[in-house]
Amino acid sequence: MNLTGPARTAEDVRAQAAAAKDLESLRACVSRCEACGLSKTRNQTVFMDGQGTRALMFVGEAPGADEDAQGVPFVGRAGKLLTDIIEKGMGIARGEITIANVLKCRPPENREPTPTEKATCTPWLDRQIELVDPAVLVPLGRHAAMHVLGIEESMGAMRARIHERGGRKVVPTYHPAYLLRSPGEKKECWKDIQLAMGVLGMPIPPRSDTGSSPASR
Ligand code: URA
Repeated sequence: MNLTGPARTAEDVRAQAAAAKDLESLRACVSRCEACGLSKTRNQTVFMDGQGTRALMFVGEAPGADEDAQGVPFVGRAGKLLTDIIEKGMGIARGEITIANVLKCRPPENREPTPTEKATCTPWLDRQIELVDPAVLVPLGRHAAMHVLGIEESMGAMRARIHERGGRKVVPTYHPAYLLRSPGEKKECWKDIQLAMGVLGMPIPPRSDTGSSPASR
């Protein structure tokens, strides 16, 4: 087991994640990780964005090309929509919320993460969740929701309700990339976001009371 150099196996990832005392040490371990083949094709790891002052954490699937280039999650087209949901819809600054992904490296050609890549990488996310310690997790899309909830269900079966994971509330919703392809579902996503805001006691901005998606206005 390797606690100091790059994590080269799934066991190294688990050990280094468990040993990381704070987010900066965890970020450093993630940036050195070589535990799966994605480390050979990435430009850089993508750890997280935001200060977490709102006790709310969004969890996406994996970085895309823009994220791999900038080292920041959700900065491409889907990220623009997520930013609109946060800023125009929820009425707060994007930096107040923590944003991370299940995978810390981009799968080539934006293919789906493999089960081995997910199993190897997710101890990083699980430790990140412990250290950020959000009251509410919002997994974006089926991959993130299945990992956060530890179940295999369709998105339709998981969303539109409040789940629990180790004392935290979990409110899964659609991935912004899906919403770009299916804009008719934005209003359903907005219902989920309002559920999460309700758990946090956040006021729903008046313009949003119509139930329409902020990002579609
Ligand atoms: N899609 C994701 O799931 N995560 C990102 O960071 C960008 C796009």
